[in-house]
Amino acid sequence: MKKTLGVCYYPEQWPREVWEDDARRMSELGLTWARIGEFAWSRLEPSFTRLEFGWLDEAIDTLARAGLKVVLGTPTATPPRWMPDKHPQMFPVGADGHPRGFGSRRHYCFSHPGYREECVRIVTALAERYGKHPAVGAWQTDNEYGCHDTALSYSAAARDGFRRWLRARYADIDALNEQWGNVFWSMEYGDFEQVGLPNLTVTEPNPAHVLAFRRFSSDQVVSFNRAQTEIIRAHSDAPIIHNFTGRFGGFDHFGVGADLDIAAWDSYPLGLLASEVPATAEHRRRYARAGDPDFQAFHHDLNRAVGRGRWWVMEQQPGAVNWAAYNPAPLAGMVRRWTWEAFEHGAEAVCYFRWRQARAGQEQMHAGLLLPDGSPAPAFDEVKRVALEINDAPDVVKYRGDAAIVFDFDADFAWGVQPCGEGLDYFGLVFGFYRVLRKLGLKADILPATARDFSGYRVVVAPGLVCMGDELKDALRGSGVPVIFGPRSGARDVEMRIPVPLPPALAGFDVKVAGVETLPFDLPVGVRGGGFIEGYREFLETTADVIAADDDGNAVAVRDGDLCYLAARLDTLALKNILKQLL
Ligand code: GAL
Repeated sequence: MKKTLGVCYYPEQWPREVWEDDARRMSELGLTWARIGEFAWSRLEPSFTRLEFGWLDEAIDTLARAGLKVVLGTPTATPPRWMPDKHPQMFPVGADGHPRGFGSRRHYCFSHPGYREECVRIVTALAERYGKHPAVGAWQTDNEYGCHDTALSYSAAARDGFRRWLRARYADIDALNEQWGNVFWSMEYGDFEQVGLPNLTVTEPNPAHVLAFRRFSSDQVVSFNRAQTEIIRAHSDAPIIHNFTGRFGGFDHFGVGADLDIAAWDSYPLGLLASEVPATAEHRRRYARAGDPDFQAFHHDLNRAVGRGRWWVMEQQPGAVNWAAYNPAPLAGMVRRWTWEAFEHGAEAVCYFRWRQARAGQEQMHAGLLLPDGSPAPAFDEVKRVALEINDAPDVVKYRGDAAIVFDFDADFAWGVQPCGEGLDYFGLVFGFYRVLRKLGLKADILPATARDFSGYRVVVAPGLVCMGDELKDALRGSGVPVIFGPRSGARDVEMRIPVPLPPALAGFDVKVAGVETLPFDLPVGVRGGGFIEGYREFLETTADVIAADDDGNAVAVRDGDLCYLAARLDTLALKNILKQLL
């Protein structure tokens, strides 16, 4: 399969007179794909059941005549204004109990049954009309699930759905009380109908309650997406894609990915450096125009796993964005370089966001490939160059890592539920490992927690899997590959209780976590041989070999044969020294 390029295009935002010329120029530029439609619901259905597809027919045909293929987006991220009149309770509700309103996007609650029905209706209409259209080469469901903090909604619909979800999971309220430990603070319930959402409590709610709500909310995203993929598949053979955000958006991407043919993510290296990368101010300054050197690669590798090998960049930053605290322009050549980095990690396609800079609306200050008057923006020529280069380039790369990182969204929820220290999160921990593997020259594969075959890897790291089950522990222990567990491996059971025997409970490996402490990041603890413990550490009881210790002699990493347990969140230098010993 050849590598391809594309662009995000909004025909509904531009006069028809320019469509033909736009399509011709896209094609001349060497693009294959135009992604369209994902925010166009108000034009597709200006009022309830008044469907107006004529303009979309014309837009698709215009693009097709120029030789382009279309990625058709379902418009469910932007319900039109008449929709909340019909369903006043459809808005997502914040943790403060206030509904979020109309006037931007993603103004829906995943649990609202009425809104779900509207989505089924519009997706069915689109799939029936365009399912066999020869120019529709792929579909995109919705747009960036969870973006703008929308995976969690504290609505009445979510509460009702949560109660049904709890009933299905625990069957009997005494089982829920028991497993959540509700006798603590007299939180016991007499009936599922008494269980509320874990917001607006006087002080912190029960972590088991919060974790259950995060899992429920994630399942809602998965089922919301599945409703769309089932409809599209019934009418079309074209692959179905979703464009995930950088970082995680609060739901299980592997769960959504299981219903997709291809995973995609939206790569905004400069915007995400400013808003999502755990970094010092100096690091941010240094990479302000290039992006963090590992962040994009991490998401490429993650999405390759989510798409079971097939993945795209659906939106590539083409110049300055508008949404971070500051929005610098990239270095000359960076857009080309980002594109090639994605291809080197096995991307099938890279699409730029967006074709022409918007004249109106929230993204007026976001660059495109063209300026608002249609003349080329700086990225235009870079894209032209990549398009020429990929003509002669080998097919899509089959990527295989030297090392593997076991990665689980449920662990992200668990860290979020109980960080016990500011700035302590699962992503920061995993990303630290990822950086170090790359510094050691190793390519990484990201594997889901359901992985059982680790053969061929030089090392497998499985940090921070809070609710790690026995099956995964056993598969890793028996893999014959060097494995790093910890910190926090199996620190909680699946219901967020401290397990006994105490963690990590790795059969045959004598390590017991006998205490933990969290520390402000400006109170680092030195590690002998170089580097620091940052933010989180455990105190171990062990007879295993200590391969790294802190300045006071406490074990930081212990080893038994191929197995290593790491008892802290470490900086790059300390982590690098430990990995070097294992390799
Ligand atoms: C993405 C989103 C796009 C656009 C872009 C701007 O998160 O999917 O629709 O808003 O950001 O950078």
